[in-house]
Amino acid sequence: MFVISFFESEKEGFLNFLYNIRLPLWVLQEHFWKGFSFMNNEKYMKIAIELANRGKGKVYTNPLVGCVIVKDDKIVGRGWHQYFGGNHAEINALINAGENAKGADLYVTLEPCNSYGKKPPCTLAIIKAGIRNVFYAMSDNNVSYGKEVLKKNGVSIFGGLLKKQARILIKDYLEYLKNKPKISVKVAMTLDGKIATYKYESKWITSEKSRAFVHKMRSQYDAVLVGTNTVLKDDPFLKTHSKTLKNPVRVVIDSKLELPRSCHLFDATVPTIIIHDSNITNIPGYLNKKGIILAPIDINMARKDFGIIVRKLNSLSIKRILIEGGGEVVASALFSNVVNDIYFFIAPKIIGGRFAVSSVGGQGVEKICESLIVKNMRVRKIGSDLLITGSIKNKNE
Ligand SMILES: NC(=O)c1ccc[n+]([C@@H]2O[C@H](COP(=O)([O-])OP(=O)(O)OC[C@H]3O[C@@H](n4cnc5c(N)ncnc54)[C@H](OP(=O)(O)O)[C@@H]3O)[C@@H](O)[C@H]2O)c1
Repeated sequence: MFVISFFESEKEGFLNFLYNIRLPLWVLQEHFWKGFSFMNNEKYMKIAIELANRGKGKVYTNPLVGCVIVKDDKIVGRGWHQYFGGNHAEINALINAGENAKGADLYVTLEPCNSYGKKPPCTLAIIKAGIRNVFYAMSDNNVSYGKEVLKKNGVSIFGGLLKKQARILIKDYLEYLKNKPKISVKVAMTLDGKIATYKYESKWITSEKSRAFVHKMRSQYDAVLVGTNTVLKDDPFLKTHSKTLKNPVRVVIDSKLELPRSCHLFDATVPTIIIHDSNITNIPGYLNKKGIILAPIDINMARKDFGIIVRKLNSLSIKRILIEGGGEVVASALFSNVVNDIYFFIAPKIIGGRFAVSSVGGQGVEKICESLIVKNMRVRKIGSDLLITGSIKNKNE
């Protein structure tokens, strides 16, 4: 039980550690592992890695993935991702295993996906087939809670087996994800949809756990963006608050360059980009310093089309942007159709007030049929809060 929970919490090096100190196999089996053999686990994952390599040159921009299904120490199913748009490795292995998949163990080089993309999620197929244990090598930040869903449905899941070897398989995929443009909106709101009181107080709406989650999220973006009111009211640092996580560039829309010099964003600890109106030519002296980048645009046009801001940032090699508010900026981005994903944290609080700041401001739509639609919606609990994620359905879809 102890060992299992170690893996579930993804202390991923632990497996290799136990193997490397060469404890006699019977000790591991008798005292820790109850029926699993590390040697065999590695053997099967190695086969999965070999299978993954068969997709080389055919799957990009997807990752190379291989999978084997094992029952009573015999391989009963093999599969790999064969071509871009084709079945995932797990699905091919499950088809290959047929009825034998029931009660079997599945070894896959990448965490199973839980998203409805070109195909239904692999997690569903794994649960339906009656797989008992899933061993994966690499986590996939792109798959939206694959391991959590499996765990919830009674499948035991172990991560990090031969992680180093499997990482090589997804090098191109990771590089692709790193360079893929991605615009996300994060909101921390109350049950009644407010992000600040009518006095503009917003510290803190969500739990410490949610805030720590957001700090981690930030490190996965090139930039974090906020509006001028947010800086005036909250004076945020917009950092990851970690020695190990990279800080994204900070971006603020300050059309008239009026933010005070004392703002934390101007502390030069992390580069800050100020998006401002190109008509403003009188640049305050304190902005002419290292770490501050001025990005002039036609701000009135950008109020109608947030895409102008995105393109300006793209021209500065900033492709992955996390929009953190406030309500006006979030509304502008959402209704300009530039947002891919949303992260709405909902705290079990109600603050009320018709003048309290709403999570999405702006004018809003006139008719329900004009609403933005969120697809692939997922709910998860973080501390005392709920986190709702999803992607915005494109108008042309
Ligand atoms: N709980 C949360 O998640 C969270 C997060 C962030 C903020 N907040 C709270 O939200 C409040 C601030 O939100 P807010 O809605 O008042 O302001 P905001 O979104 O931070 O800033 C809006 C201002 O940005 C400027 N702007 C320039 N171009 C824009 C564009 N294309 N789209 C939108 N705005 C543009 C406008 O000011 P000009 O007209 O001067 O150009 C606009 O009034 C604060 O109380 C803060 O505490 C809460």
